[in-house]
Amino acid sequence: MGFSMNDMTGSFSFAPAHAAAGAQDAAQRTAPQLDPIGVIFQISGSGSQVLIELEAIDRLSTHPDACVSMTGQVGSQVKMKLGNFWVLANIRSMALDRRDPNRVIADVDFLGEGNEDPVSGHITHFRRGVTRYPTPGTQIHPVSSDDMDHIYAATEQAHVQIGTVYPTTRTRAALYVDPLLGKHFALLGSTGTGKSTSAALILHRICDQSPKGHIVMIDPHGEYAAAFADNGAIFDVGNLALPYWLMNFEEHCEVFVTAYGSDRNIDCDILAKCLLAARARNRLAEGMARLTVDSPVPYLLSDLSTILSNEMGKLDKGTGSLPYLRLKTRIDEVKADPRYSFMFSGMLVADTMQDFIAKIFRMPANGKPISIIDTSAMPAEITSVVVSVLSRLVFDYAIWARSEPQRPILLVCEEAHRYIPNTTTGAGQSVRKILERIAKEGRKYGVSLGLITQRPSDLAEGVLSQCGTIIAMRLNNDRDQQFVRAAMPEGARGFLDSIPALRNRECIICGEGVAIPIRVALDTLEEERRPASQDPSFSRLWQEAGGEDDILNRTITRWRNQGR
Ligand SMILES: Nc1ncnc2c1ncn2[C@@H]1O[C@H](COP(=O)(O)OP(=O)(O)OP(=O)(O)O)[C@@H](O)[C@H]1O
Ligand SMILES: [Mg+2]
Repeated sequence: MGFSMNDMTGSFSFAPAHAAAGAQDAAQRTAPQLDPIGVIFQISGSGSQVLIELEAIDRLSTHPDACVSMTGQVGSQVKMKLGNFWVLANIRSMALDRRDPNRVIADVDFLGEGNEDPVSGHITHFRRGVTRYPTPGTQIHPVSSDDMDHIYAATEQAHVQIGTVYPTTRTRAALYVDPLLGKHFALLGSTGTGKSTSAALILHRICDQSPKGHIVMIDPHGEYAAAFADNGAIFDVGNLALPYWLMNFEEHCEVFVTAYGSDRNIDCDILAKCLLAARARNRLAEGMARLTVDSPVPYLLSDLSTILSNEMGKLDKGTGSLPYLRLKTRIDEVKADPRYSFMFSGMLVADTMQDFIAKIFRMPANGKPISIIDTSAMPAEITSVVVSVLSRLVFDYAIWARSEPQRPILLVCEEAHRYIPNTTTGAGQSVRKILERIAKEGRKYGVSLGLITQRPSDLAEGVLSQCGTIIAMRLNNDRDQQFVRAAMPEGARGFLDSIPALRNRECIICGEGVAIPIRVALDTLEEERRPASQDPSFSRLWQEAGGEDDILNRTITRWRNQGR
């Protein structure tokens, strides 16, 4: 560590600390006049250092302004003047000056700069990044709540307010809707830190502002129905009615092909041929110039079965019939299984594509701009295909609607690591591919992705860096922290160090959706708007008893009927 310059630091003189006199009127004064607390010591591209007088930190610690009293804490901010600019920096870490125990050396990251209003002295037009660096010896000043109000004041750009900026108790934190959604976002945090509630909070604020929006939320735990009872369309196995024929060929293979290894390729080839023939039987196919196995044209499962039988009949002396039998058996199995009926029922053969897309994408929204797809009661082995079909519909719709009036769609994925895992083998590859594709190209077509996960390190490589905005709640795991660090912009590194120390429902936001990186204490969400993910109170619930007979009876009935 090159602290050799320390010898020289003694020659800097801090402004006289006329603390006692200024203490009480300092509360009323606006910040630009607060006494300096130290000086810039070293400036370099990667990390700059400031010297702060311990006495000044002490003096300010009892200041009535919560923000000023935090001065000199890790995670707090300081400002310095450069001509008629103010430059804002964030304190990343601190150490005692070995040469002078009355001072601390703090590493700081520059956040941005603003102009000084010549009349009021307030900081105006604050923007990210600095065009000029201050020189060593420049005095640094505490930042007040008043400053924070001006620094974080939202511009006219469309935004939603979601909480208060740390460490103030009043400065509102704004998320800019267009850059947030335009470049995807990720919401990360260890379990129980408040991800789902924060997601509900942000989506509620957006829905309140855009009641004609189009949001599709994949909800694997059935939590969000409670949160969006008023302004959301709720779909589960009972009413989703997802037609099986909307699946493309790859998704068909994931459901119908059970063989492994080289047998799998054989089965897939046969399925491709027979599926195409089945689709071709539809009246809609007649007028189509290019019918493919992927075309979303209805067909009858019984037709597919019959075609498989016919093809099998054409074989020489019955050799090689095994793949046909495997496929037929699986198709029959799926058809007969009541757990699959939300997708494979005989009722779903009609051409309902337009109705289906209208209801899922909320076109029109009819006051319910968000659709919640509760996949919790679906058989585990089919959920990834369901998510794949829905995500692909979103993307394909956007592609084929390019010449139409644009209807941008936001796709939100809870437990995203399940669907975009960093493994490229195993089941569920089609959903990984489509979500990766949306991450890469969705922006161009007006498809936005919101990924929520507690395990960022399990996400496929590169997906996180496609997210323009990262909302990070507390992350306990080291590996997860590293992944988030890698995806965050340089200037936000100082904030990152506080990720393990965040309290519940506190988060760090950086990237496109915010003017500069911020640490936010999220607002309390009204109870009726929270997802049903409340932590159960064991101590209270274990005081209760009674009605077990009925509870068990009703539960088992639902369990057997696979209905709610
Ligand atoms: N902004 C908030 N307003 C009110 N309550 C909140 C808020 N944030 C979190 N909570 C409460 O904290 C608890 C945990 O929140 P939540 O279920 O959202 O966490 P999570 O990170 O999604 O957890 P998991 O990883 O288990 O899904 C809940 O009881 C929730 O009500
Ligand atoms: Mg959750």
